[in-house]
Amino acid sequence: MINYKFPENFLWGGAMTASQCEGAWNQGGKGISLPDLLVNRSGDLKSKINVEMTTQEVLNALNDKISYFPRRKGIDFYHSYPEDIKLLKELGIKCFRTSINWARIFPDGDNEHPNEEGLQFYENVIDEFIKNGIEPVITLSHYEMPVNLPLKYKGWYSRELIPIFVRYCETVMRRFKGKVHYWIPVNEINLIMQESFLHLGVPSDQVENVMEAKYRALHNEILAVCQVTKLAKEIDPENKIGAMITSQTAYPKTCNPKDAFAALQHNQREYYFLDVLTRGKYPGYMFRFFEERNFDIGYKDSDEEILKYGRADFIGLSYYFSRTVDEKSITNLRSPGINNEYLEENAWGWTIDPLGLRFLLNELYDRYQLPIFLLEFGLGAHDVVEEGKIHDDYRINYMREHLQQLKEAVHDGIPIIGALMWAPIDIVSNSSSEMSKRYGVIYVDIDDEGHGTGKRIKKDSFYWFQKVISTNGEKL
Ligand code: BG6
Repeated sequence: MINYKFPENFLWGGAMTASQCEGAWNQGGKGISLPDLLVNRSGDLKSKINVEMTTQEVLNALNDKISYFPRRKGIDFYHSYPEDIKLLKELGIKCFRTSINWARIFPDGDNEHPNEEGLQFYENVIDEFIKNGIEPVITLSHYEMPVNLPLKYKGWYSRELIPIFVRYCETVMRRFKGKVHYWIPVNEINLIMQESFLHLGVPSDQVENVMEAKYRALHNEILAVCQVTKLAKEIDPENKIGAMITSQTAYPKTCNPKDAFAALQHNQREYYFLDVLTRGKYPGYMFRFFEERNFDIGYKDSDEEILKYGRADFIGLSYYFSRTVDEKSITNLRSPGINNEYLEENAWGWTIDPLGLRFLLNELYDRYQLPIFLLEFGLGAHDVVEEGKIHDDYRINYMREHLQQLKEAVHDGIPIIGALMWAPIDIVSNSSSEMSKRYGVIYVDIDDEGHGTGKRIKKDSFYWFQKVISTNGEKL
């Protein structure tokens, strides 16, 4: 029997990440983390910071006493989490995904001992979620790392990062054993072009070929994730590991076979992360891709044994938009997408494509036959406060249309674990480090310069989502 209602135990929830919400950047023994180096970039989306940074740019940011760095303040979740979790409980969510800031646990990454204050902070947060009947999902690396690691090791470019990361994950997984069951070792592991500095930490002046360096860094990260996957099961057989990508899946621009093949090749390059992390080996097409570009990713024969540990339990997906490519555009590795005349875009140029979500869920299930967890979806928008209220029907419509397609995917027979909206409380945007790109159903009174009371206000979408959850998706 095909079940076309959401399953009874469906995990409705929300997702955020440490570096976009916590603030308290220099408190609790925390080291400096890469996102702490980013200034507000609204209106400057073409800048390459985030994507690539040089050693000098890192040092400049470390010494900058004048500019405003929004991640350093976030929405002060570090202090406000008990009240915020109360609001999330009122919303009715069953599950919440957040990340652990690596630099709170190992301030320099390679310290001999973990920082107990950091561990205790996350223990308190996790306990607070559990106390409120909310299942925590923990991301171990979400576009951040202690700044010492890029400066001393060139980030993931160095194989020395592998044991450093594994030790950090082991420390955390042992500490929260029995409290956390869903782990995401790396957020959106396929996003290596747009967020490469935050993700991989390779200073662009330290390597000869930046593109080759990204794939080499990725290979090291993949090896670390495979070891973490194995370790997670040893620590607690109940642990479930998710291999997560963000949707970069592309449609062909036309039905010209050359465009269709271009889309296939483009998508293979996005899926190879999942191929390795669920099947335990690289697909042949990627070896060909590296060979044809003369990329040396530092692959050793002995890596094969480690890659075999790559057996994730589920696929994690974040979905915001779809892409379109053609034969010519895919040769631009950095930015292969082209305009799709059938789709509208949001104010940041992200296409709005609810059917694309169903398309992708089907494609991923056909390919991997593993349960899928929708770990992020949502709409970034400029909200306006009118007499203390936020009437965000655009967000309600967006979420409704996406959840309708999710329900269709359940009807298609795909086992979907849950759906987590990004981000139930407004937080600092990742790509532009601004507050004005808001996703929440709860408004936060802070502006792009960090001014405001920090007060939380429920938007219209809060009440709508609350109803969706309480009816298990019957009322969309
Ligand atoms: C996802 C990231 O790719 O997109 C989040 O995991 C991010 O960290 C989200 O916030 C939305 O992107 P942005 O740039 O609008 O904040």
